Amino acid sequence: MAYDPRFPNLHILDHPLIVHKLSHMRNKKTSTKTFRQLLREIALLMGYEITRHLPTTSEKIETPICPMDATVLAGKKTAIVPILRAGLGMADGLLELMPAARVGHIGMYRDPVTKRPVEYLRKLPTAEDRLFILVDPMLATGYSAAAGVDVLLDHNVLPENIRFMALVAAPEGVQVMLDTHPDVTVYVAGLDEKLNEKAYIVPGLGDAGDRLYGTL
Ligand code: URA
Repeated sequence: MAYDPRFPNLHILDHPLIVHKLSHMRNKKTSTKTFRQLLREIALLMGYEITRHLPTTSEKIETPICPMDATVLAGKKTAIVPILRAGLGMADGLLELMPAARVGHIGMYRDPVTKRPVEYLRKLPTAEDRLFILVDPMLATGYSAAAGVDVLLDHNVLPENIRFMALVAAPEGVQVMLDTHPDVTVYVAGLDEKLNEKAYIVPGLGDAGDRLYGTL
């Protein structure tokens, strides 16, 4: 795991397997099928790290040999919340890791005039005391990520129960998250150089939704 001194809210999950898979995703020659598969695999690997501090408890079971106090997860099931549409590809990988997780959905589009996200769909599991992992592969301007966190806060999820997970981030987007939601930890596989004039991440991987669904 790596850190950047500019961003105390950021965890860069630079495991060799993760960065290797990400490099294949960045390559424009990579097919839709492979891109989708790699996104799932990276999300699963990142999920392993993000859930490292989930609370546990013990439960009495019997092995074929003897009784024992076995460690199991405590508390409410984790909620995975993709921001539509590209977030769905990462949610699939997290669901492989946590098949019993709850899944919420947040739909947002970018207003062509203001360039700000406008919410059109919100379906979420009850907040209670569960962990919410908000997912969107590209943390570019940070506006939809910040708006996604606003939706969860409005749903009474506590900031300390929210994690934001992206594949690639631009420094501009991480800064927006730090300014708007400093209590929410951001997990990424790669921190890139900058945004270009069209708000694409450089070097990035292009439009994640288009590459995931073959709509280029
Ligand atoms: N969204 C994408 O899919 N790609 C970017 O580079 C920026 C935002």
